[in-house]
Amino acid sequence: MQEYNNDYYLAQILQQNMRYTEETGKTKKCLTHTFGCQMNERDSEILFGFLTQMGYERTDREEEADLILLNTCCIREKAESKVLSELGELRRYKQKNPDMIIGVCGCMVQQEGMVNTIRSSAPHVNLIFGTHNLHELPRFIYEIYTTGEKQIEVLEKETGVHEGLPRHREYPFKALVNIIYGCNNFCTYCIVPYVRGRERSRKMEDILQEVRGLVADGVVEITLLGQNVNSYGLDLKDGTNFAGLLQELDKIEGLRRIRYMTSHPKDVNEELVKVIAASQKVCHHFHLPIQSGSTAILKQMNRKYSKEDYLAMVELIRRYVPDATITTDIIVGFPGETEEDFQETLDVVRTVKFDNAFSFIYSKRTGTPAAKFADAVTLEEKKERLQRLNDTLAEISKGINDHLQDTDMEVLVEGPSKNNPEMLCGRTDGNKTVIFLGSPDLIGQIVKVHITEAQTWILKGTLL
Ligand code: SAH
Ligand code: SF4
Ligand code: F3S
Repeated sequence: MQEYNNDYYLAQILQQNMRYTEETGKTKKCLTHTFGCQMNERDSEILFGFLTQMGYERTDREEEADLILLNTCCIREKAESKVLSELGELRRYKQKNPDMIIGVCGCMVQQEGMVNTIRSSAPHVNLIFGTHNLHELPRFIYEIYTTGEKQIEVLEKETGVHEGLPRHREYPFKALVNIIYGCNNFCTYCIVPYVRGRERSRKMEDILQEVRGLVADGVVEITLLGQNVNSYGLDLKDGTNFAGLLQELDKIEGLRRIRYMTSHPKDVNEELVKVIAASQKVCHHFHLPIQSGSTAILKQMNRKYSKEDYLAMVELIRRYVPDATITTDIIVGFPGETEEDFQETLDVVRTVKFDNAFSFIYSKRTGTPAAKFADAVTLEEKKERLQRLNDTLAEISKGINDHLQDTDMEVLVEGPSKNNPEMLCGRTDGNKTVIFLGSPDLIGQIVKVHITEAQTWILKGTLL
């Protein structure tokens, strides 16, 4: 059942935008700015898909935009302050173009009190909606067009899974695919369960159909998305699970690589590792956020595994998938983290030898249990721990990459290198970045590259 009639709203908006073009000779332009993780990136594809259907053209310049949408993140305080400062800057564009629509959506607005904060600190914002009513963008824009009134609607709870929404993809050869929304884990530091709701899996058939369509459209690599992909299917209560989904996806002809983000260490088991080892297409890259190496801190974080559990899981992976790359997320300075706890983290980092890691200083999130935990460690000390951690990670990564020198690796060519547009940039199966010289015609293809130089975070090579 559809409780909204997007087709009607989209047609009405398109008609008005076409009339605007006839009268002024100009096309309405939009800009979306995405903060945060790949879930948000995927959501922005939907937003941009809708905007395209409304006849909007994309621009990268705020000054010529008729509609600006900020798709926000609130995982750490820094993410939030970036949004608030950008919102402040947008005020002057609205002064120049009073008809401009400025919208804020995404995780940040789902937090209690945030709508009021935005309303009072950024009165030029005339559209606010949350993660649970993203699919209603057409109605909000239609209302603004017809009434001129601000539209502010943030649903507190999830409203199931919405299929069939439009999308605009950034890359022709790779795609993000949602498999499960929300999170039930409630790690004590984390805001996500409060802003993304409870776990809801998409039906396996819907996912397979989407991926078949993407492959027919030229996609060779998919990244399955979920806050905890290992929980996939469990809420459907019909025997569906993540390992089963991987097995089905592996059979899709033409698809070359399957990635996924993120896997929770508590749910990695032998069955899953065996399925990955036996598959043709699932990449040998395991991103398994450990957060801390101290069992005491892990308990405080409600992560449901110990240091020893994590190390045992890594052994299991190395046994079945000897060429696996293993990456992680680490938080330093969680409330109550002692120097000894931090040493445990360094110890795990040295034992596992992570290929790469995202490392963060703990950021207090109002409304989470950890916000009430006593925290005696100073920010200076936390910064110093982060530095020591990053130095250790860099040293290990360089050591691993040195071993890859003079080997040949398969690389999916993604585009020109950011730092040197003369060069191409691509990724190995294990998600390592490789830079090499080649023709732009190769973008989207999987090629062989001989590694000639190992750096700390990237590899350089020559095309074979
Ligand atoms: N669902 C994923 C993580 C999503 S958030 C998982 O469970 O692994 C991405 C990362 O942000 C987390 O792994 C964690 O390292 C970090 N993070 C989350 N909340 C944080 C906070 N309050 N302060 C600092 N880092 C945080
Ligand atoms: Fe946050 Fe934990 Fe859920 Fe990941 S598993 S999104 S860290 S609550
Ligand atoms: Fe941020 Fe929301 Fe992702 S809080 S990290 S954008 S799920």
